[in-house]
Amino acid sequence: MKSQTTSPAGVPLLEDDQMHSARVFAGYQHATWELHHIPWDAFRADLVLPEHIVFAKGAIVGESNVVAATHGLLNEFAMDYDFSQFACIWGYQEIQHHLAFQIWLQLAGHSIAFGTTASMREAYPPGVTRAATLATNVICEVLATHAYRSVARSMHEPVLAAILKKASGDEARHAREFVHYTAQQLAERPEERASVLETLYIYMGTTRDMYRHPVSRFKGNLPELENHETIDEMFAYFAKVDVSGSEWAKCCEQLFKYFSTLTGYKLTKMSDVRRAIATEESGTEKASV
Ligand SMILES: [Fe+2]
Ligand SMILES: [Fe+2]
Repeated sequence: MKSQTTSPAGVPLLEDDQMHSARVFAGYQHATWELHHIPWDAFRADLVLPEHIVFAKGAIVGESNVVAATHGLLNEFAMDYDFSQFACIWGYQEIQHHLAFQIWLQLAGHSIAFGTTASMREAYPPGVTRAATLATNVICEVLATHAYRSVARSMHEPVLAAILKKASGDEARHAREFVHYTAQQLAERPEERASVLETLYIYMGTTRDMYRHPVSRFKGNLPELENHETIDEMFAYFAKVDVSGSEWAKCCEQLFKYFSTLTGYKLTKMSDVRRAIATEESGTEKASV
């Protein structure tokens, strides 16, 4: 009998190079958490500040996009079983983020109307290319990783701090997998590379876009969200607690690292991205990393 790779718990891993999501599934079972791991009994109402309520509502509105996003990904990748399976695994974890924040908000004596959450249902439209869609998700995950990490560090309310710490770890793992699938897409369709660079520039290109998340571009104008907290408020709180700007700097550094690996261009600042886009457009030789 041939020896088989096993997971840390000794479960044999599925040997199938085309089923990357099977390894992700097994890996996530060790890395992830469940609602009962949150120390709900440790909740401290006296440590909840009004801006935490605004932040949590913004996070809920952002995380509740998971259904629309999963629907969009399954539509756009209908021909790709492995990625679609990953999208389902990813969606399950994002649902947990959404519900954990909702429970915390109720403990704090607030809630979000179901109609607000339900207004997030409509599927996302397809991106300009499949690689651009995946790259957008890389950006979303990296931004969420650092936003949650930064707010967790400053958070005195222990339950919200615990949720943020755990969710941040999930978002970082999600980013890695979206990078994997973007790389795979570009290996099959290198002509989509320019759209990946443009995606980075569209969302991160100007200082106006600091502490902003792509979801606010897609869903920020829904009538149901008028006068309601959105992901913009969540990111505004990230900006407030990231006093030195060091977490935002780390976030940008991580994005440049991922997008350098993905595109083959050495990207350390936005002018590099602009130059890379111009190079792609003119069809000249790309710089090597
Ligand atoms: Fe999330
Ligand atoms: Fe995520």
